[in-house]
Amino acid sequence: MPRKKKTGTVASGTVFPVMKKAAPSPGRTAAREVIGKYGGRKRAVIQVLQDLQERFRWLSVETLEAVALELDVPLAHVYSVATFYKSFSLEPRGRHICTVCMGTACHVRGGTAVLEHFERRLGIPAGQTSPGGEVTLERVNCLGACALAPLAVVDGRYYGQMNESKANEVLKPILAGRDAPPASDKGPVD
Ligand code: FES
Repeated sequence: MPRKKKTGTVASGTVFPVMKKAAPSPGRTAAREVIGKYGGRKRAVIQVLQDLQERFRWLSVETLEAVALELDVPLAHVYSVATFYKSFSLEPRGRHICTVCMGTACHVRGGTAVLEHFERRLGIPAGQTSPGGEVTLERVNCLGACALAPLAVVDGRYYGQMNESKANEVLKPILAGRDAPPASDKGPVD
């Protein structure tokens, strides 16, 4: 008779497999490298998760397990950090990330029309990733640059006073399957 897999439960009710000292995996190797960069400090869990998310674009359960094992902290602790901060994604994300602000200032200055335009051009509703994993469209509540409203961020670059024609220009390289504007050119633009 097949043996039932042992599981553990965290406060949220999420059930994880009980961790074992597993064989090295790409996630485990990456976690070890990143943790080494921070001197193995248990308190560096946020930075470790940030670096791993940058590398993999999201945090899988396997990645969270690897961090817990390598830092020798409970998985529930790593999971609670990953779910507390909105910047962490526990779902796969696209190679390009488009974020449209729907905070009050952006909303009253046309944020809804901007978001709908992004949805139409990308062919996905907010909160989803395109089937091929090319792009993820997100909506957020205030990016802290309300003077630029309505605001959208594409691959880390801020675009203020966003409108449909500006969105068309910004999305052109993504829709053409090419790279987004250079990452070095980050920061608010109008
Ligand atoms: S409401 Fe959009 S940046 Fe603040």
